[in-house]
Amino acid sequence: MSANPIDVQDFITMSDVAIQERIVAAKAALGDRLIILGHHYQREETFRHADVSGDSLKLSRSAANSKAEYIVFCGVHFMAEVADIVSRPEQVAILPDLAAGCSMADMANLANVERAWRELADVLAPDEHITPMTYINSAADLKAFCGRHGGIVCTSTNARHVLEWAFEQREKVLFFPDQHLGRNTGFSMDIPLDDMVVWDYDLPLGGLTPAQIKKAKMILWKGFCSVHQLFRPEYIDEFKKKYPETKVISHPESSFEVCQKSDYVGSTEYIINTIRDAEPGARWLVGTELNLVNRLHEQFKHEGTNVHFMSGTVSMCSTMFRIGPSSLLWVLENLLEGNVVNRITVPSVEAEQALLALNRMLDVSP
Ligand code: 13P
Ligand code: SF4
Repeated sequence: MSANPIDVQDFITMSDVAIQERIVAAKAALGDRLIILGHHYQREETFRHADVSGDSLKLSRSAANSKAEYIVFCGVHFMAEVADIVSRPEQVAILPDLAAGCSMADMANLANVERAWRELADVLAPDEHITPMTYINSAADLKAFCGRHGGIVCTSTNARHVLEWAFEQREKVLFFPDQHLGRNTGFSMDIPLDDMVVWDYDLPLGGLTPAQIKKAKMILWKGFCSVHQLFRPEYIDEFKKKYPETKVISHPESSFEVCQKSDYVGSTEYIINTIRDAEPGARWLVGTELNLVNRLHEQFKHEGTNVHFMSGTVSMCSTMFRIGPSSLLWVLENLLEGNVVNRITVPSVEAEQALLALNRMLDVSP
């Protein structure tokens, strides 16, 4: 390691072209010691450097299977934590900008989930009756909580299989942090809306009565994604008035009403595959993050396919956006100098317990 890591400020005034060229050169020099994983929501200037692109599930699997010494995650913090947990101890997970968090993941934390578990114990014995299930969009300590309480992790791809597993263990599920993914998945398994209650973590007993908790099949954490909550069912109606042939496809972090009005609902990878495999020339209205929708539009427009964004306002994942080319270059050139910057390390006990819950997910995923 050199005495002083290269300062990120050194890249601020560099031209975009120079940054792109130097990323390519640094990647070539690091060779197979490096793998860059890129989530579909990354902006183009960063995304083009990914060795593997994908949704959360695909990228977790790539991290677990990678032999590279350095796993540079162009995504958000919880994704880099998963990469650290599932990779071997000698591998290094790196997030190019530590401020790239996930506002939904931040809506649940260990203190308020443990408080919920304690309060639920006033009504029924949670460890006997409730499987805790966390969306992968959550901090490692919540995955560890699920690991030690017989629970599990899910992604938007496998939520249904995971939920089936969760109900085979115990008769109720506490699902956090995204109420929408929980509700949309539960409803697709014929759980009535009345049997899914929302736990408001700012209120005693989640704002629920003991009778509501006893009756509920699913207790949904009051969390949401600020990007996907902007999609509205009225927008779909208006759009279809103009273009009745439109097929609507949404990510399950969108509201129940939006998903009900959609022809297809699934993860980012599912959205890409569905549009790719459809007849060319179709018109799509897509309810997911803007960078991905723009990329799909560019990718398929030559076939006469029209891909539209489900909102009149710009709706990007602002935290993903933080991973710009200059922070990627800063990480890579430091690695070339022998400096590891922005390493993401999950403490070992927490990682072990989180791995339990992640492995349960990988075992039940199709
Ligand atoms: P995917 O697993 O579909 O990529 O979703 C992750 C995410 O954060 C969507 O907001
Ligand atoms: Fe989190 Fe929403 Fe961004 Fe996905 S799109 S990483 S859920 S804030």
